[in-house]
Amino acid sequence: MKTIIKGNIINPISRLKTEYFENYAIVIENGKIIELLPADGIEKKYSGFEMLDYSGKIISPGFIDNHLHIPQVNQRARYGENLMEWLSKYILTAEDSFEDLEIAEREIKNCFNCLIANGTTTAVMYNSYHKSATDLAFQIAEKSGLKAFIGKTMMDYFTEGKQYETTDQSLKDSYDLYKKWDGRDNGRLNYIFTPRFAPACSLELLTEIGKIAKQESVYIQSHLSENKDEIEQALNKFFGFETYTDIYDKTGILTAKTIMAHCIHLSDYEFNLIRDTGCKIAHCPSSNFFLKSGSFNFSAAERKGIEFGLGSDVGAGPSFSLFDVMKSLNYAQPYHILPQKSYYYATLGNAYVLGLEKDTGNFEIGKDADLIVIDIKKYHQDFKFSTVENLLAYMIYLGHQGFITDMFVRGKKINYIK
Ligand code: GUN
Ligand code: FE
Repeated sequence: MKTIIKGNIINPISRLKTEYFENYAIVIENGKIIELLPADGIEKKYSGFEMLDYSGKIISPGFIDNHLHIPQVNQRARYGENLMEWLSKYILTAEDSFEDLEIAEREIKNCFNCLIANGTTTAVMYNSYHKSATDLAFQIAEKSGLKAFIGKTMMDYFTEGKQYETTDQSLKDSYDLYKKWDGRDNGRLNYIFTPRFAPACSLELLTEIGKIAKQESVYIQSHLSENKDEIEQALNKFFGFETYTDIYDKTGILTAKTIMAHCIHLSDYEFNLIRDTGCKIAHCPSSNFFLKSGSFNFSAAERKGIEFGLGSDVGAGPSFSLFDVMKSLNYAQPYHILPQKSYYYATLGNAYVLGLEKDTGNFEIGKDADLIVIDIKKYHQDFKFSTVENLLAYMIYLGHQGFITDMFVRGKKINYIK
């Protein structure tokens, strides 16, 4: 497959630098970027290539969303509660409904179509606690063409008394799914072990996941320090641990392939523990606004050199759009955040979080052609800009899913799932 995509290219290079090339072309062979060059005269040099002309539109690396929940797509905007009440009032029953595979199929497809509509080419996802529904999520992910990390949520303990699954079953189901799906299609699909959070897991479950991580270097995701009541529950339940982060550290689940969501109320000691283990953070500012969880200490995370990226946290986050999440990232802080930085955390920064920086996140030669087409003029006919900073600010503050017109993963055009 040989394709050329023409348009105005934006390309994140680092936290402080984004490149912009007007009227350029991305040359793609077998799904990989082989050249980036001015579009003038390109037909002669590359005769025999399929030519896709998006002149006047913006071509960007696809967005990467490092945290969202598939069964919560239709639980968005459940307004009025903080985390623990919101979970028990709306979320856990919605997740129960994935027992029914017809419901699960409808919602999983809906979720993938939302990702496609919003230009998310790679997503890191929690499914419900069901093995069958998670297997189905992988089947749909496989067909979708997107890059996906999916895990069956593990929850062998819950403080309200309901036991959703036994420890052994939780481990066995997760391990089976991991063996079946991890690395599928040349690494396009990955399994991620998904203990929900300390209040919903037994010490034994966390310890066993820690052992697997040590032996097989698996991906892990969970939630940490999102809400004051959650922290209190975790510490009351896991007697003898000094801090919430210690619970995860001592059970061995903080690794360089672990993503902890939120990390809002961490002490300096806990932040250092995150950094020293190489654990990554999913910062989900729109979710943090919605559940009134507090705001992430962005400057401390940057200062300490912790690797983090952005997540929508759908359904606590109301929007799949990384434009919206980038906007919230700025609004949540008491100072202005450079647009280049927000954009980095939604693209290349998240590729680093996943250890995929050699495969995706920007238009470096040799990487997969994971890209989106952004049409600002569709909504803002008179749009003009003088610097890449202006362009990114426009996208971040005015962007929405209507801006995204097309999407490609590994050079292949992605279509909605029926
Ligand atoms: N903590 C444990 N489960 C969840 C969840 O589903 N959403 C959020 N935002 N936080 C959680
Ligand atoms: Fe979450």
